[in-house]
Amino acid sequence: MNSPNSLVGRDFLEISDFSGDELRQLLDNAAALKLAVREGIPHPLLAGRTMAMIFEKPSLRTRATFETGMAQLGGHAVDLAHEHLQMGVRESIADVGRNLVRWVDVIMARVYTHDTLTELAAAEVPVINGLSDLSHPCQVLADLLTIREHKERLEGLKLVYVGDGFNVARSLLAAAPRLGLSITLACPEGYDPGPDAIATARALADDPTTVEIVRDPREAVAGADAVYTDSWISMGLEDETEARLRAFDGYQVDAALMALAGPDAIFMHCLPAHRGQEVTDEVMDGPQSVVFDQAENRLHTQKALLVQLIRGPVAFKELN
Ligand code: CP
Ligand code: NVA
Repeated sequence: MNSPNSLVGRDFLEISDFSGDELRQLLDNAAALKLAVREGIPHPLLAGRTMAMIFEKPSLRTRATFETGMAQLGGHAVDLAHEHLQMGVRESIADVGRNLVRWVDVIMARVYTHDTLTELAAAEVPVINGLSDLSHPCQVLADLLTIREHKERLEGLKLVYVGDGFNVARSLLAAAPRLGLSITLACPEGYDPGPDAIATARALADDPTTVEIVRDPREAVAGADAVYTDSWISMGLEDETEARLRAFDGYQVDAALMALAGPDAIFMHCLPAHRGQEVTDEVMDGPQSVVFDQAENRLHTQKALLVQLIRGPVAFKELN
């Protein structure tokens, strides 16, 4: 196992940047920070530290949780409005990074193209992926904590993803086998996460953990502990709306699909949800839905991430 020190100064661009042990440690730390918030215990672990936030795309959860998290940790988050920054137009991406490194301790960026993150990451300051066209690893940290809270473990569970094999699906696929969680994806033809992502996940999965791709959501959800879906029309793909609505017909998570999964399966969504498309109101608002726990856990997991990237080992448990 790597020393906890090894996370300091590192980038978090993909789930694969952390080992299974590092991910487990991060979830433990996030749980301790969550308890500290619940108990009203101040924890200014990043006093005087600063984060720059870059959003090329809209956000509610990512922006609110990173900014709130930095404030709770005694630090400060600067939101660099995209229209003013004009990264790559007014100034090159690399030069934006070279400036920011002189002022801030960490950069968090939500971008159209993953390459933008790798260009920023050339600067000697940790860069966190707040969503790209390839992945959404911060979302998946919160998802893992949520599953662990509801199921009291991760290992040996079956996670089923129904819908578009895009950024969120790819990060779930990267995380699951690292933590002994089996994953089955039900995606329409042409919307799989890509052969490389599947092959990498399969190579990581130790028996009895499995990685499966099927077409039929009803087949996929049998024996599921968690059923997950995401938007059919992700940000930036709006031009494809008509074709996507046709392709994803039959992939809606509704009460009938959840009934096939069984009463103990939780329903998950990264949000924002497009009610009536990938999920019905009945499922979103039903007793199996944990979607707002996922949203809350963005705060706690990202705080743990920030502390570990900026400051390193802290006796989180002593906070409680
Ligand atoms: N799930 C998520 O990343 O939400 P936002 O797009 O609102 O940040
Ligand atoms: N797949 C979605 C996730 C939103 C959090 C998107 O990229 O828009």
